[in-house]
Parts: sequence; C-alpha cells; structure tokens
Amino acid sequence: MSSKVMVYGATSAIAQATARLWAAAGDPLFLVARDGRKLQQVADDLKTRGAARIETRIQDATDLGGHAPLVEEAWQAFKGLDLALVAQGFYPDPRRCLEDPELMRQALEVNTLSVFSLVNALARRFESRGGGGTIVVLGAPAGERGAGDDYVHAASKVAVDVFLEGTRRRLAPAGVQVMTVKPARTASPLRGAVGQGATSPSRVARDIALALLKRQPVCYSPGYRRWWS
Ligand SMILES: NC(=O)c1ccc[n+]([C@@H]2O[C@H](COP(=O)([O-])OP(=O)(O)OC[C@H]3O[C@@H](n4cnc5c(N)ncnc54)[C@H](OP(=O)(O)O)[C@@H]3O)[C@@H](O)[C@H]2O)c1
Repeated sequence: MSSKVMVYGATSAIAQATARLWAAAGDPLFLVARDGRKLQQVADDLKTRGAARIETRIQDATDLGGHAPLVEEAWQAFKGLDLALVAQGFYPDPRRCLEDPELMRQALEVNTLSVFSLVNALARRFESRGGGGTIVVLGAPAGERGAGDDYVHAASKVAVDVFLEGTRRRLAPAGVQVMTVKPARTASPLRGAVGQGATSPSRVARDIALALLKRQPVCYSPGYRRWWS
C-alpha cells in the first residue's frame, strides 16, 4: 500500500536518497524546499523513478508562521498524510560561529527553531486526525559524546533530540510514530569535503526505511555508530 509523504528540505542529499525509495514504491510526494530551481530538478528525478504524484512548494524553513498553513495545504492536497520527513539543516563554520552572533542565530533558527515549529505543526495535524502517521526528523549524533569545537552545531541538534523525545511521548497515545535519525558523517553538500569513510546518503536512506519498518524511535546510520563514533 502506498504512503502519502511530505518531504521538507527536499533538496537535501539524504532526503533525496530517501525520497527515491518512496518514489520507487509509487508513493505520492509533497516536496518543500527553499530553492525552486533545485526543487524542480529533484521533482523531475522522483517523477521518473515512479512517484505516483508530485506537488512542490517553496518555503524557507525560517518562515515559522508558514509551517502550519503549509502542512494544512499538503494535508488537503493529498487528503491526509501518512509520513513526513524533516530534513533541513545548516552546518556553520565552528570558529566563525562563536564570533558572529548572526551566524549563531542562523544555525539555531534552521537546525532547532524551524524543526520545533514544523514538527509541532505536523504533530497537531496527525493528532487531530485521531491516530496513526509517522514523523521522521534528521537529527545528528553530534553532542552525544561531547562536541569538538563545533559545539554550537552540536547544541542545536541536542535540543532537537530532547524536543523529539517529548513529542514522541506526547503522540504515543495517538499511535503517531516519531523517529529521530542520527546519521554519521555523510557525503553531502552540508559539510563540504568529508574525506574517506563518510557514509553515503543512499546508505542512510536504506537504514531509515528499515528503521521505519521496525518502528524504531531512533535510527543510527550506520547502526554500529551507536556504539562507536
Ligand atoms: N551530512 C552529514 O554528515 C550529516 C550528519 C548528521 C546529520 N545530518 C543532518 O541531515 C540533514 C540533511 O543534511 P544533508 O547531509 O542531506 O545535507 P544537505 O544536502 O546540505 O541538506 C541540507 C538541506 O537543508 C536545506 N536548508 C538549509 N537552510 C535552509 C533554510 N533556511 N530553509 C530551507 N531549507 C534549508 C538545504 O537547502 P538548499 O538545498 O537550498 O541549500 C538542503 O536541502 C540535516 O539536518 C543535517 O544536519 C547530516
């Protein structure tokens, strides 16, 4: 059976790889990103891979007031959603971030506040339906074992962990699954050159798909990174 999916931050490398799995399964996809040109390329690719239907919308994640109306639009367009992936993220230069309050604000707005606001809008919508649905968020293992000099980024992601833990508990009675994904360093534009040993976005995508089947609350990718990083 197909799932009606919303992908926020759809131009993310990890989101694209994951959406390809859903497209291949024939799922309808509601894609949101801030860059219309990139978004159209992603939509075209997913269409050729089998997505039953594709809707695209442009939104900057820092437009907090726009989140709830957009979730509602996706809900109305697809007559409900089964799954939402929240993927936007920003990795600031660690040193500059400590000296530039504007950069620090941007990191917290994109990585933390926008995720809180969007997850909350999704949570309210799934909850009001009276049950079911899944919210998947790309978090990070950053901060779990102490951060290096990139502790602003780590703090912005740890806050997401705590928020999702609370949301998971709140939505459990309604049968809504909330999954935190913690990819190891992954080859994507986020952090530029990552060197050897980086995980591929498609590996993270496969781990997400498997964790969804198992209804895991947290998905480490690769899984062994849970014990070693
Ligand atoms: N790569 C890693 O090593 C790694 C490890 C752990 C966790 N993660 C997390 O995984 C998620 C996806 O990252 P990725 O590796 O796939 O990197 P990516 O390809 O660089 O994706 C980052 C995404 O965030 C979007 N974005 C940034 N600021 C935004 C804003 N203000 N409004 C809307 N969208 C915005 C980017 O949009 P544009 O395409 O327009 O720039 C892009 O789609 C992030 O949350 C990241 O923290 C990544």
